[in-house]
Amino acid sequence: MSGASSGPVVVTTAADLREACSRLLREADAPLPSLGLVPTMGALHAGHAGLASAARAGNDVVVASIFVNPLQFGDHMDLERYPRTLDADLELLGRCGVDLVFVPSAAEMYPGGAPQVRIQSGPLADKFEGAARPGHFDGMLTVVAKLLHAALPAVEARYAAYFGQKDAQQLVLIRRMVSDLNFPVTIVAVPTVRANDGLALSSRNRFLSAAERNAALVLPRALKLLEERAARHEALDPDSVLDMLASERLVTLDYLEIVDPATLEPLAFNCRHVPFTGSALAVIAARVGPVRLIDNVRLGGEWAP
Ligand code: PAF
Repeated sequence: MSGASSGPVVVTTAADLREACSRLLREADAPLPSLGLVPTMGALHAGHAGLASAARAGNDVVVASIFVNPLQFGDHMDLERYPRTLDADLELLGRCGVDLVFVPSAAEMYPGGAPQVRIQSGPLADKFEGAARPGHFDGMLTVVAKLLHAALPAVEARYAAYFGQKDAQQLVLIRRMVSDLNFPVTIVAVPTVRANDGLALSSRNRFLSAAERNAALVLPRALKLLEERAARHEALDPDSVLDMLASERLVTLDYLEIVDPATLEPLAFNCRHVPFTGSALAVIAARVGPVRLIDNVRLGGEWAP
């Protein structure tokens, strides 16, 4: 276990994590203390700071994890290329007031090698990111299940875990796993953080050239247009938005869909040419240069807390 005087304590084993969580919860001086977990893969940015700050505001003890999970990468090269910035990550987490950071090795997380028994993400994962990245969501849910168990308070406490709204399908699947399999944790969704130019923050944005980044701004522009039409109860007319996306030659659109926020089922006809009412989620994914970008915006309704 290690910790700089002002930074968070770093633990690398599940046993140390459990012990440190219990100690901090006992020291919390609250009748029913609370623990907030922020799972990450590192390469942290202001979006992660938003997760950590939300966890800090709502809990007595805040734990973050940093683990680049090999199970959720299909392409070995993508895993190798994933940025690793541990020192800067610990500094950011320290600034957000995180108490404890769990930084396990792959051997600690998967002592027997790749696990034979995994969480199966089911039909919700058949489309969108799941279709583009086969096996990704099984790997993601498997590691999230392990992290939720690893940080599960061993003393009586409230327990919440924080995830970004930017990864909308991931969030829906985690909520579904927690409810279908009775995990004793509350899932808290935290709003997407955007750069000043509107691009949703992502650890992969650093791989965009200046021209690609400029082209990528068509994604948030497209979503904003849909959001404004929904707010004015106009027809969403996604075809006009598709034309706008097609005009950006550095951007190859994978999908733009208007879906039910809970089931991710396409809401085909409520939205095309009749005035928009109700509540939906617009999800988008595109390849821009070497990077696959995803984003989404809620139409006509708030995210569930
Ligand atoms: O969103 C991420 O960073 C990852 O998918 C998560 C939830 C930390 C699991 O590895």
